[in-house]
Amino acid sequence: MSLTVAVTGPTGEIGISTIEALEQHPEVTTIIGMARRPFDPAARGWTKTVYRQGDILDRDAVDGLVADADVVVHLAFIIMGSRDESARINLEGTRNVFEATAAAQRPRRMVYTSSVAAYGYHPDNPSPITEDVPVRGSAEHYYSEQKAACEATLADATAGSSLEVFVLRPCIVAGPKATALADAMPWNRLPDGVRRITRALPLPKPPFPDPGTPLQLVHHDDVAAAIALAVTTTSAPAGAYNIAGDGLLSMSDVGEAFGARPVKVPHLAAVATSEVIARLPFVPFALEWLHAGRASVVMDTSKAKEHLGWRPEHTSADTLAALADAVNRT
Ligand SMILES: NC(=O)c1ccc[n+]([C@@H]2O[C@H](COP(=O)([O-])OP(=O)(O)OC[C@H]3O[C@@H](n4cnc5c(N)ncnc54)[C@H](OP(=O)(O)O)[C@@H]3O)[C@@H](O)[C@H]2O)c1
Repeated sequence: MSLTVAVTGPTGEIGISTIEALEQHPEVTTIIGMARRPFDPAARGWTKTVYRQGDILDRDAVDGLVADADVVVHLAFIIMGSRDESARINLEGTRNVFEATAAAQRPRRMVYTSSVAAYGYHPDNPSPITEDVPVRGSAEHYYSEQKAACEATLADATAGSSLEVFVLRPCIVAGPKATALADAMPWNRLPDGVRRITRALPLPKPPFPDPGTPLQLVHHDDVAAAIALAVTTTSAPAGAYNIAGDGLLSMSDVGEAFGARPVKVPHLAAVATSEVIARLPFVPFALEWLHAGRASVVMDTSKAKEHLGWRPEHTSADTLAALADAVNRT
């Protein structure tokens, strides 16, 4: 097999590890990456990858990207953005990618990274949740709502086409090269020098609320391995696959890893806070992420292991430790 793979968003937290996994795969001969900012694949030592600057909102650019590919991997997305900006790129841009891929002659497979958030943060979610549970999103959390909407768009855009559609639903991705979780801690947003000084001072640790909601993490290299399997598999059935590291963490584990002082808060308080926020007429987008703490969405990953042959090398705890080690050293 000799595959040309088009990747939107190759420069993101998942994108970099994905290209590295595809670069090493013997059956992948060419990778064409597209994102908006300038980027030089050679500077990373990549030899199979060419880069085109382009926006997924530009249908001509997307048509050009997918026309030359056997497999299209869609990663481009706005995770932390305003509701309006993210909706434009995530809904309109993602529709462009799905429709262009379905309409093009050459691609035979689409690999899309959805998210655990697509299930929505519903109290009646089964735990652990399997792929046969419908994705319902949570209207009060823009990211969750958009992830569920994109899966519906994907089904709509590819209905009746011969495309093999693989949907991966990772939990929070972390590791030394995916630091968004650590960056979200307010004290980690201080400039490096200030952070080092405050760490050296005998200051009280910042409090970190733990409403008792368990958490899964997955290492960026394990997500990349799952994407590479979805790109190249000749035996796994198309469909949705949950992707998470083995084992569960608590919010206290996360807080402690980043030098905070965990404070147990009643789960009901998290639900109540989420409900108040949902009723406010104007909510800063960042606050909408608080909804993620109201209900646990723990995923069952046996389907990816059994059918895709995915073997995560890092547990949730290893992933947190690797991330903490990387950020606490800076
Ligand atoms: N990180 C996680 O914890 C996580 C968990 C589950 C699922 N996912 C999903 O995995 C996918 C990749 O996530 P990530 O963490 O790698 O995201 P990321 O680090 O924010 O990277 C986003 C990528 O998309 C590109 N991009 C954004 N807007 C674009 C546009 N309009 N046109 C073309 N490219 C655009 C960015 O480059 P430019 O800005 O240069 O365009 C960048 O390469 C997303 O669908 C995300 O929802 C992520």
